[in-house]
Amino acid sequence: MTKKIEAIVQEDKLTDVKDALRRIGIVGLNITECRGHGRQGGITLTGRTGAYQIDLLPRVQFNIVLSDHNVEKVIETIRHAAYTGNEGDGIIFVYPVEEVVRIRTGERGHQALMYPDDIDVRRVAVESTAPSDNGYEEDAAPVAATMTKGED
Ligand SMILES: Nc1ncnc2c1ncn2[C@@H]1O[C@H](COP(=O)(O)OP(=O)(O)OP(=O)(O)O)[C@@H](O)[C@H]1O
Ligand SMILES: [Mg+2]
Repeated sequence: MTKKIEAIVQEDKLTDVKDALRRIGIVGLNITECRGHGRQGGITLTGRTGAYQIDLLPRVQFNIVLSDHNVEKVIETIRHAAYTGNEGDGIIFVYPVEEVVRIRTGERGHQALMYPDDIDVRRVAVESTAPSDNGYEEDAAPVAATMTKGED
């Protein structure tokens, strides 16, 4: 089953999130720049001429289409990389994906989502060379599901 993760994060977390995803072997992704608000509805700026409201704040959205079995690892990786503990850190959505077609080759589904040295190629390489636990699983240790303020 194929899923799409949409992760909306602070603009200044773009590089941290991108690099963290690359480290775990996420190769195919795209980003869009967007503006929005969550619970707080924006921010109020106070200047000499008075207070005014900015209700749509700039954010970066990561779009990643991937196999089901990689979803949790990617969510934890994004949370860890994008986390400050402050309001407005962002939000992650997960959707089902109906079909994937690689235009050049006509490959479909999982085949169309494979890249050299990606998260699945690494897993297969590890499984075929080592009979038990090894460094890959250590790298893959999930970050704590609940993080405390200030941890990063
Ligand atoms: N329900 C939603 N649908 C679509 N986009 C959303 C939604 N909620 C938040 N966003 C987008 O995510 C960005 C970050 O939201 P934000 O982190 O403020 O979420 P929140 O739910 O208010 O959490 P927090 O309490 O940490 O601020 C927003 O600027 C907006 O672009
Ligand atoms: Mg908010």
